[in-house]
Amino acid sequence: MPRGLIGRLLGRIMAWHNGLDSEWTVRLLHIGNDEQILEVGFGPGAAIESLVKLHPSVQIAGIDHSEAMLDAASSRNRDAIVAGNVILQLGSVENLPFVNSTFDKAFSIHCIYFWEKPVQGLRELYRVLKPGGRLAITVRDKNREAYQAFRPEKLEQMLHRAGFTTVEIAANGVSAHPLICAVGTK
Ligand SMILES: C[S@@+](CC[C@H](N)C(=O)[O-])C[C@H]1O[C@@H](n2cnc3c(N)ncnc32)[C@H](O)[C@@H]1O
Repeated sequence: MPRGLIGRLLGRIMAWHNGLDSEWTVRLLHIGNDEQILEVGFGPGAAIESLVKLHPSVQIAGIDHSEAMLDAASSRNRDAIVAGNVILQLGSVENLPFVNSTFDKAFSIHCIYFWEKPVQGLRELYRVLKPGGRLAITVRDKNREAYQAFRPEKLEQMLHRAGFTTVEIAANGVSAHPLICAVGTK
């Protein structure tokens, strides 16, 4: 990991990109007032922070399997947690600690690459969404090997296998930082 001035500069560029990725993803979900929202793999919690600013009336739950990320995201979102608008927990996408049909919307950004069984994770997300609920999965739009399993047509197939009836694919169109997002509806 680069240190010093270059490290700080790269950190700022990464944080700026992550902010854009989360805002773009969240907008694709068309979040309404008072909805219940879930994020899986919140990392340092930047998406939750921007979601609270954009939609102050929603209730947000977050799951991440890293204790370090839970600490970082909890400290970044302390006020919203204290106010009762955000609940963050340790957990894994393979076994979500929620009853069926809990959430109106769910999303996960730059996370599905790490899931041991992506379709099983998507099935879990399907289970906890309400009928008509929407899930957004955002990934890098690159033809590199690491992303081959998550090209648009493959994401679409996986979401259908998990039970989603319709799947729409969106691209952010930013050549310096290309992303795709698959939005499935239950
Ligand atoms: C590359 S980071 C992305 C963080 C954030 N979404 C962002 O875009 O900045 C991936 C995150 O997913 C979490 N993660 C990976 N696999 C997971 C799983 N199976 N269940 C829950 N969280 C997971 C990691 O701990 C990490 O915080």
